[in-house]
Amino acid sequence: MSFCIAIDGPAAAGKGTISKAVAKHFGFAHLDTGLLYRATGAKTFEGLTPIEAAESLVAADLDRDDLRSGDAGQAASRVAAVPEVRAALVDFQQAFARREGGAVLDGRDIGTVICPDAEVKLYVIASDEVRAQRRHKELVEKGEDITLEDVLEDLRERDERDAARATAPLKPAEDATVIDTTEMGIEEAVAKVIALIEARRA
Ligand code: DC
Repeated sequence: MSFCIAIDGPAAAGKGTISKAVAKHFGFAHLDTGLLYRATGAKTFEGLTPIEAAESLVAADLDRDDLRSGDAGQAASRVAAVPEVRAALVDFQQAFARREGGAVLDGRDIGTVICPDAEVKLYVIASDEVRAQRRHKELVEKGEDITLEDVLEDLRERDERDAARATAPLKPAEDATVIDTTEMGIEEAVAKVIALIEARRA
């Protein structure tokens, strides 16, 4: 039996952490779809066009250790605005969403485009400042030398581009439940989401 949980939202709102915890709780597979775009963006650093990069993507590309950098995030957001790049990545994501045993996918367009019939749709948000603090901490722990102001600017620039693009823009599905993690600890958010999913599965 398939069961798809779609978790969308802007950068660093907490959707990755929530997705992993929810997948673990229910024993579902998890796909961080941002990694597909980050890996595509990273391949353009080596001279491929965005379309060539997306069409030649293989599983090993997702294991690169530079995918979490700020540069890879910006490159991901740029290639993600190219309709042919998005088209090249659809089949893989849709097959993942409908795999046996249940799946959690997090991204920007899961509830709107990839899995519009998902059993559960969430849209995770948090204030710009809180998102920037979380992402800054993460990057500094990885050894990046970056200021909080630069992280905030980077997130806002990326969100604006992701929300303004013509194809599959960042936006909540009409039937998504909005989870605001600004004031909530991540544990509280995870507990709330698990309760919501359990109610839908009953
Ligand atoms: O979730 P993330 O920050 O790793 O995503 C990186 C970029 O990839 C994001 O700025 C926009 C793009 N993306 C997208 O367009 N659609 C998705 N489903 C996931 C990510």
